[in-house]
Amino acid sequence: MILSKRDRKMNHIPVMLNEVIELITAHTNKSHLRILDATLGLGGYSEAVLEKFPDCSVLGIDRDEEAIRLSRERLKDYEDDSRFEARHVNFGDIGEIINSSKPFDAFMFDLGVSNMQLTLPERGFSFNSDGLLDMRMNPSGDSRTAADVLRESDEKTLAKIFWDYGEERFSRLIASAIKRSKTPITTTSELVNVIRGALPQPVQRKMGTHPARRVFQALRIFVNDETGELERVIMTLSEINYEALIIFVSYHSLEDRLVKYAFRQWQGDDKGKILTRHPLTPSESELEDNYKSRSAKLRAFLFKNSNAKFLISH
Ligand SMILES: C[S@@+](CC[C@H](N)C(=O)[O-])C[C@H]1O[C@@H](n2cnc3c(N)ncnc32)[C@H](O)[C@@H]1O
Repeated sequence: MILSKRDRKMNHIPVMLNEVIELITAHTNKSHLRILDATLGLGGYSEAVLEKFPDCSVLGIDRDEEAIRLSRERLKDYEDDSRFEARHVNFGDIGEIINSSKPFDAFMFDLGVSNMQLTLPERGFSFNSDGLLDMRMNPSGDSRTAADVLRESDEKTLAKIFWDYGEERFSRLIASAIKRSKTPITTTSELVNVIRGALPQPVQRKMGTHPARRVFQALRIFVNDETGELERVIMTLSEINYEALIIFVSYHSLEDRLVKYAFRQWQGDDKGKILTRHPLTPSESELEDNYKSRSAKLRAFLFKNSNAKFLISH
């Protein structure tokens, strides 16, 4: 497929892909694998498993319609061969899919945002380019934008959002500056300017990162209720009663903690086995190639078939 210049710019480098493939290779044993890619994005994981396992099939879901469109273009040949299907679904709702289809051998979750979402200024995720302050992953389904959140929330609530989801040390200072702004903040660059104006220069110089990075991350997680959706899908996965590999790649300590505790709980309830006692992190060479992968943590769990004896020896 020939990518347009704009599509090439949006290209997303899949994070910890080798580790994902190795886990699937080591912990699934059927030849006709069925894989659910719960965060399809630009289809990087899906494409890799479709290539690596020639008779596997993949159902990819994403809450972002643009991601569905782009990954379908990328994986058109596999779709034509009935090995790939994409659906516009929030992973918090996968219960319906799980209940109405044959068992999946593996579930892949690569949380957070894709480079496509970050790169398109009109999506409002990026502090590096100007656009309306939107940040909804599903603009056709969700109504509250990041600009709405800034306008409708009081100072205390905003400070809590910035602290809880961005671990922003200057959350109160920034929240106060936002609320003092004479006109409502509606664009990404207006928000960046308010943050820059609120933080003392020496603080900004020492930050070692863009001064708006944490606030943007916090707003994005809040607008899309990312931790709520993660909790919902964890509840749904808890009901799985067949052998299945679950892989989570997360980029935020809150998400990683939710996954870690869910896995412990599942293992304690004898539902299966934790495969990663400590989370896996990107290799040195991956970090060199893709600095954006630096916060990734991968955890994996293997559900056992509740009707069969657990015979895994790994
Ligand atoms: C990091 S990207 C995935 C990239 C993908 N692994 C690849 O290699 O191209 C995360 C994707 O998950 C999607 N996403 C985030 N939360 C979701 C949810 N609750 N349900 C479905 N998709 C979600 C985002 O829209 C985004 O496209």
